[in-house]
Amino acid sequence: MSETMQGWVVHEFGGPEVMQWESLPIPEPGPGQVLVAVHASGMNFAETRMRAGSYSGQPLPFVMGMEGAGTVAALGPGVEGFAVGQRVFGRARGCHADYVLFDEAHLMPLPDRLSFVEGAAIPVGWLTAWHALHTVARVQPGQRVLIEAVAGSVGSAALPIARAAGCWTAVTASSDHKLEPARAAGADLAINYRDQRISQCVRDATGGAGVDVALMTIGEATAQELFDSMGMDGKVVMFGSTGGKDITFNLAIGMVNMQLLSMSISTSPQYPTETLPGFRREALPRFADGRFRPIVGEVLPLAELARAHAMIGERRHYGKIILQVKPD
Ligand SMILES: NC(=O)c1ccc[n+]([C@@H]2O[C@H](COP(=O)([O-])OP(=O)(O)OC[C@H]3O[C@@H](n4cnc5c(N)ncnc54)[C@H](OP(=O)(O)O)[C@@H]3O)[C@@H](O)[C@H]2O)c1
Repeated sequence: MSETMQGWVVHEFGGPEVMQWESLPIPEPGPGQVLVAVHASGMNFAETRMRAGSYSGQPLPFVMGMEGAGTVAALGPGVEGFAVGQRVFGRARGCHADYVLFDEAHLMPLPDRLSFVEGAAIPVGWLTAWHALHTVARVQPGQRVLIEAVAGSVGSAALPIARAAGCWTAVTASSDHKLEPARAAGADLAINYRDQRISQCVRDATGGAGVDVALMTIGEATAQELFDSMGMDGKVVMFGSTGGKDITFNLAIGMVNMQLLSMSISTSPQYPTETLPGFRREALPRFADGRFRPIVGEVLPLAELARAHAMIGERRHYGKIILQVKPD
């Protein structure tokens, strides 16, 4: 194996031009780490913030990318759960490169039926949605769930997860063409929030009752509409703020016992203890037998990373934008 690789590096924060395609040393796996030859890597909204310098705690320099799928190239001391050559996927910083180090705890075997591109579409979106719905909201069969920005990588995963949990689902998007795939995926109510009032649509569809759980990701721009959609004892789970971070709300939310919950899979103590084990136990078998399908929106070569960043801002994708490092 050659001792160098190529990867996208950021040395200073800024626009897409600060991302540099550079030669880097191939990292050595330490205890509990696995070196993976990356075949495909997912693109996330958060990476546009990391590159711009508005993602809290992001040090410089760094290799871009937060998730990927590939084959195990080398095992660090003490790693027993994986073998060299095995097909794997998971969350790791630095995946927009030929090789990346994973912590063993964040790596999973890639089911045979999935391509590397499909595997790279799972980690951040599906694990965030799983954490929000199961670990934080503790959804129950028969509950009503409102999924904001259903076309996003997290939102598009939340829809099949909520349906598999036996929930009624309402979804939102800013355009009709993004609602069509959500309807095809079984959404019970699809709302274009540019043309329609979310809360009115939800009240009409639920006989005035409102929803039990809402996944908030746009933040400032639509928060009040989500609050107005909540039923008695409803839980709002905030996981993103694509439309602005500052919200205000009236404390009358107490009259319906509304709970406003927030989360980050990077810092939640329940993520490693509940979400990852639950996902391995219940979601992985569903991917393995086809009940869950990764949602691939677009596939670009890794060389076109700047284009992928632009596509996040254009907001036309449904599901995950994937960067292909090696052919599947
Ligand atoms: N808490 C966590 O642990 C965690 C984990 C992963 C992601 N996140 C966060 O979750 C959010 C969504 O991530 P994602 O990867 O799913 O993003 P994504 O695939 O880019 O989707 C974002 C969605 O947000 C909507 N949106 C509204 N205003 C937007 C704006 N100004 N710019 C871009 N999109 C906008 C878009 O839908 P419409 O056009 O239909 O409105 C778009 O489909 C981000 O804030 C991300 O940082 C949090």
